[in-house]
Amino acid sequence: MSQNVPIGIIGGSGLYEIEGLNIVETLDIDTPFGKPSAPIVIGEIDGRRVAFLPRHGQHHQHSPTHVPYRANIWALKSIGVFWLVTVSAVGSLKEEIVPGHFAIPDQIIDKTVKRPNSMFDEIAVHVGLSRPFHPMLRDVLLECVKAEGITVHDGGTYVCMEGPAFSTIAESELHRAWGASLIGMTAMPEARLAREAEMCYATIALPTDYDVWHEDDHVDVSKVMEIIRQNVSNVRRVLKRVIPAIPLGKEAECDASQALQYAIMTKPEAI
Ligand code: ADE
Repeated sequence: MSQNVPIGIIGGSGLYEIEGLNIVETLDIDTPFGKPSAPIVIGEIDGRRVAFLPRHGQHHQHSPTHVPYRANIWALKSIGVFWLVTVSAVGSLKEEIVPGHFAIPDQIIDKTVKRPNSMFDEIAVHVGLSRPFHPMLRDVLLECVKAEGITVHDGGTYVCMEGPAFSTIAESELHRAWGASLIGMTAMPEARLAREAEMCYATIALPTDYDVWHEDDHVDVSKVMEIIRQNVSNVRRVLKRVIPAIPLGKEAECDASQALQYAIMTKPEAI
C-alpha cells in the first residue's frame, strides 16, 4: 500500500475527481473509526504523489453531520499525507465577497454540536488551534488563486454550523454581527482533527450565495450547485498550480508538524 503520499486533497460539493491526475491506485482503507467517505484515489501530477478524497462520498451520500471526518483524516495520515488542501462551498456573509469569488479563510468559529471532534477519546490531548488554517499553506493557495486571475479574499472567519438546514435570518445576522465572512458546514471538525494528526491544513472556500441576509435572495441547493458548476474548472486549474507549489521538504518549518509535542496531559504511565 502507498505510504509516501505527501499531499492530500479533500474535495467538497461538486468536486468528486481531479482532472489531470494520473491515477496510480485506488485504496480502500479501514481505520479504527470505520471507512473514509470513499476509496482514496492516489495519482501523480508533475511527478508528485497526491491523494484525493471526495468528502461527501462519490455520490454525495454523506451529509455534513455524517461525514466520517475521523476516518478521513486517519486514512490520509496512514498513507503519509502532511499537506492537506480542502475545497468547500460556503455562503458569503459580506457584500464584497461576491458568489463566484474565492476566499482563503484564516479563522473558524465552530458551532457544530454532534460530531466526534477528537482523535483521542481515551487520553487528554489539547492541541493548539489558534491558527486553524495554516499560514504556510494559506500563502500557497492565495498565490495560486491569484495566478489564475480569480478574485480572492485573503483571510476571514468561517463559521462552521451543524446544518443540515441552512440558517435562519436571525442566525445569519448574528454571524454577520460577529464579523464573520463565511458560513459553511464542513471545516470542523476537519481542521481540528488535521491538527491532531499533525498535518498542515488550509481551505479554498468557494462562496456560492449570500446565505439568507440579502433581501429576497436566500440560499438553496440549486443556487449553490449552479455557482459550483460555473467554478469547477477554475478550482481544477488552481489545484493544478497548487500541487507543484507545495513546499515539500519544509514540513519541519510548519509548527503543525509538532502539534502533539506539548499537548498530551495524560501521564505516560497511564497510556
Ligand atoms: N454552503 C454553501 N452555502 C452555504 C450557506 N449559506 N450556509 C451553510 N453552508 C453553505
